[in-house]
Amino acid sequence: MWDPGTYLKFADERSRPFHDLVARIGAAAPRTVVDLGCGPGDQTVTLAARWPSARIVGIDSSPEMISRALESPGDVSFSVGAVEEWKPSSDVDVVISNATLQWVPTHRELLSEWIPLLNADAWLAFQVPGNFDSPSHVLMHEVAASGPWSGQLTGLRGSGAVDTPSAYATRLMDLGCVVDAWETTYLHVLPAVEGEHPVLRWMSGTALRPARQALSPSDYAAFVAALEPRLAEAYPVVDGRTLLPFRRVFVVAHR
Ligand SMILES: C[S@@+](CC[C@H](N)C(=O)[O-])C[C@H]1O[C@@H](n2cnc3c(N)ncnc32)[C@H](O)[C@@H]1O
Repeated sequence: MWDPGTYLKFADERSRPFHDLVARIGAAAPRTVVDLGCGPGDQTVTLAARWPSARIVGIDSSPEMISRALESPGDVSFSVGAVEEWKPSSDVDVVISNATLQWVPTHRELLSEWIPLLNADAWLAFQVPGNFDSPSHVLMHEVAASGPWSGQLTGLRGSGAVDTPSAYATRLMDLGCVVDAWETTYLHVLPAVEGEHPVLRWMSGTALRPARQALSPSDYAAFVAALEPRLAEAYPVVDGRTLLPFRRVFVVAHR
């Protein structure tokens, strides 16, 4: 289950890659713009300002996220649905997916299916985290493998969850697209608040979600208690803040 409240604790940091991604889409007047894995919809609604005449559609598999998105102001259509089930209809000119495809193991094949179905001149833009080798993830995997919970924690994302910018670009260029792909490491400055290390707080909204789902509340609490001091060592709090470098991979393909 996704918790929109936990996820939105870092709304500002999480929304910046979305805007950096959308800035590179060159569509002038798309008919329909689809945001796949739209989450709580706070970013999806901003697309109406960029393309005022477009129909904006947000799709997410989490009923909790869609229920939060439906509270958003503006004329955006939100519905529950899986990325794996989605196919572009003939009026879709822009497809965006921000920080979602890393949760979809078949996304590479889906990209290859969608491109031939998209209109000539359509745009497909996505961003995925590329931080699976960072200390936060390495430590999460080490703690997952070393406790009594190890057999239950098989759903944590690893480095195979996403490709390099070059691998995505090659796949999409081979399908006839013009591709703009890059990577950026953001340096998030996370404030320390009482009771929880900031990086643990950040991870609670995303990377740790499969662990919370797989373990009983008491086992999850023990898992987090083992992880937190290791995160605190890797990401020291200095002057009330912690620096979290976060690499992300961006791909914009134009048919
Ligand atoms: C990290 S959030 C990103 C949300 C939003 N795009 C953003 O940038 O804030 C990942 C979202 O992907 C959704 N998601 C994960 N797997 C999905 C799937 N197979 N189909 C549709 N949505 C999925 C989750 O429900 C969650 O809302």
